[in-house]
Amino acid sequence: MEAQNQNLKTTLPLSLGRFHISEDYGFLLPNPLKELPDHYKPWMEIANKLPYLIESHQLRALVNKMPLLNCHFLKGYREQRLAHLVLSFITMGYVWQEGETQPEQVLPRNLALPFVEISRKLGLPPILVHSDLVLTNWTKWNPEGPLEIRNLDIILSFPGGESLRGFILVTVLVEKAAVPGIKALVEAVNAILQLSQDSLLEALQQLRLSIQDITRVLEQMHDYVDPDIFYAVIRIFLSGWKDNPAMPMGLIYEGVSKEPLKYSGGSAAQSTVLHAFDEFLGICHSKESADFLHRMRDYMPPSHKAFIEEMRSAPSLRKYILSSGNGQLLAAYNQCMEALAELRSYHITMVTKYLITAAAKAKVRRQTHLPGPPKALEERGTGGTAVLSFLKSVRDKTVESIIHQNV
Ligand code: HEM
Repeated sequence: MEAQNQNLKTTLPLSLGRFHISEDYGFLLPNPLKELPDHYKPWMEIANKLPYLIESHQLRALVNKMPLLNCHFLKGYREQRLAHLVLSFITMGYVWQEGETQPEQVLPRNLALPFVEISRKLGLPPILVHSDLVLTNWTKWNPEGPLEIRNLDIILSFPGGESLRGFILVTVLVEKAAVPGIKALVEAVNAILQLSQDSLLEALQQLRLSIQDITRVLEQMHDYVDPDIFYAVIRIFLSGWKDNPAMPMGLIYEGVSKEPLKYSGGSAAQSTVLHAFDEFLGICHSKESADFLHRMRDYMPPSHKAFIEEMRSAPSLRKYILSSGNGQLLAAYNQCMEALAELRSYHITMVTKYLITAAAKAKVRRQTHLPGPPKALEERGTGGTAVLSFLKSVRDKTVESIIHQNV
């Protein structure tokens, strides 16, 4: 049978727990901590006042006076994740405090050393990543209440006020909307291994619903995020020092390396969700897009990256469906692809509004000599891509992967 010829590395039953993925929260860190042990008070005091310290141009001076602390007193995974969140926020603020024209080229050792130490422990790069900004940066007002925007707040902030809060929390809700989809992947792989076509059909239907739900949740971005604020205020704090004309050499991490290091900025391209969906559905992206997307996997918690690998090495869904001769399975598969292409088209309209149109408006403002937003980053994603051609290629490959065949 088809499944028996397939990769036998996938052991049955596949489960989310193996990859530190929560049944309730998916890739979101369940109930993230908000406080570190007292030893790290100097970090927390700065991190909790970050928007004010950046806007009043005081952050760099305060960070320069910060004591050098090591990470030995961080107990357990959740404290380590909070420490990475805290140090990544302070780092982005430190580098970009004066905007794109005067980025700081050297991260002082009292920040660089613990940041690199905790990053190594977690297997993450020493820069702000999606797993900081979103997965670790949420809290419920009422712990017993639902995961809805009115019961949610962020833990750390940059300048950008309510728009920043909305940008992060809508993305938290996207991760939540993906949970049934992630579970469907696991159920589908188990169904293929057990040769259960009924279970596979059910899982594909669940996956399609989850993808459609993600698109619906994305629509909320318009209610909470002002495009001008996103473009002119928020975006720079997510920007990295790789493929960024504002910092062509990268950033020196003092005490770590004499050579500057280059890292991409935070982007939802580092969310594990669509990577896992793509691998499971068997979508092959163009070489250039795939190179970028694969690089983004190194910006994810290693156990989440391992989940994507598991999806990649699992028995091929496409081959299974084609050899099954089951028209219902084929239709359900194609509906997943259509839903995913629609999600990507919707994301492109959002990017057009929040980056391309906002950039054009900002250009006009610059011509009228009003203070302008980042220029070097114009029409580039925070991950450093030439945005639209990349996103369209990714969407078009999704459409091309629809199977046009009568089985
Ligand atoms: C204002 C809102 C948003 C903007 C302006 C935006 C912008 C971008 C940009 C510029 C890229 C290209 C990669 C880069 O250079 O960073 C990208 C990629 C991507 N974004 Fe967004 N994004 C937004 C919201 C979201 C949300 C909420 C999600 C959901 C988790 C998301 C998921 C993705 C994914 C998965 C990619 C990789 C391309 C793909 O797989 O289709 N984005 N985004």
